[in-house]
Amino acid sequence: MLPASETSVASAEGSARPSGIRSRPATAVSLADVQGPVREGLEQVKRELRRIVDDDSPLIAGVSDHLLGMKGKLFRPTLVLLSSAVVEHPEPTATTLAAVLELMHLATLVHDDAVDHSALRRGMPTLNALFSHQISVIAGDFLYLRALRELARLGDLQALRVLTEASVEMTRGELRQLAYADPLAFGERDYEALIGAKTASLFGAACEVGALCGAPEFRSQLARYGERLGMAFQVIDDVLDYTSDHQVTGKPGGLDLRERKMTLPLIAAMREMGPAGRSRVEGLFAAEAPSDGDIHDVIALVAEYGGIEYALRRGAQYAQEAEQAIAGLPATPARGALHRAIGYVLDRRS
Ligand code: IPE
Ligand code: IPE
Ligand code: MG
Ligand code: MG
Repeated sequence: MLPASETSVASAEGSARPSGIRSRPATAVSLADVQGPVREGLEQVKRELRRIVDDDSPLIAGVSDHLLGMKGKLFRPTLVLLSSAVVEHPEPTATTLAAVLELMHLATLVHDDAVDHSALRRGMPTLNALFSHQISVIAGDFLYLRALRELARLGDLQALRVLTEASVEMTRGELRQLAYADPLAFGERDYEALIGAKTASLFGAACEVGALCGAPEFRSQLARYGERLGMAFQVIDDVLDYTSDHQVTGKPGGLDLRERKMTLPLIAAMREMGPAGRSRVEGLFAAEAPSDGDIHDVIALVAEYGGIEYALRRGAQYAQEAEQAIAGLPATPARGALHRAIGYVLDRRS
């Protein structure tokens, strides 16, 4: 992998930001800056997570302990809590809904790592690496169904509707990623539809259910904000797969290429490549088991042909759309944190 310092998101992003994107402070926005107004709420979310997955089967308890012991960012629960607080009087169920969101996310990560053959998540071994693919399938279902059971207990039909719709979309996105016949024909429009389904749908749902328990009058604006933020989040995730490594992100770098995934950096770079460059990419996609050297070469080619810069520009545009979506919200601390979340998503390194 290229060293993070040579091609980091933050350093490349400055030069790639198109004019018209509101400038952000020179210092990167940290996760703590975003989570400040909901720090206590997030502690409650962690307790809720434990309660919801509690089970007397030793195997399930072992799996849950491993998963909940991993240090995730809790970004989706943060969005639920902040959205519920934009007019300052959230309902207490926001905490449980935030835990439900994190569990649904965790379930998709468990399945996604099995599908992507990934051995590392949040700096720890994945369930498929530690146990088996079979256990990952069942454990992902278990987490998802405990989340659903909790929604049923709450009796909140509106939240149930929003979250099951988002789950259907995520499943469609993950399936679409596996189902395309010719990866190299996968273009930017296909990519947008894919990340909208697999990632942005849950971000939108997080903000929408948050709005439903505190700021229903801003439901559509917050849903739109979350959805656009989710697009930016996945674009940056795909950039980080090219520019960073496991010591920073806690998951394997270069995995998208190894798994023959067409993400925006590669799609954009391939549009600029001549026949020689394209045939190197085609060679890698045709190889049964590409070597580290092959992967490294194509990563360098993608950077050389402007794929990283292009993706960062698109990420910044999605971020700007997220900003516009919440422009009319009242100036509360939660609204300020939602604004900072946009900067965080663009600057993040893990
Ligand atoms: C990873 O999400 C999956 C993507 C949508 C890229 P996060 O980066 O939020 O993962 P955790 O929860 O912090 O591990
Ligand atoms: C996002 O895509 C996965 C989900 C939305 C479940 P990736 O496959 O890029 O996510 P990471 O990189 O494994 O976290
Ligand atoms: Mg993955
Ligand atoms: Mg990824």
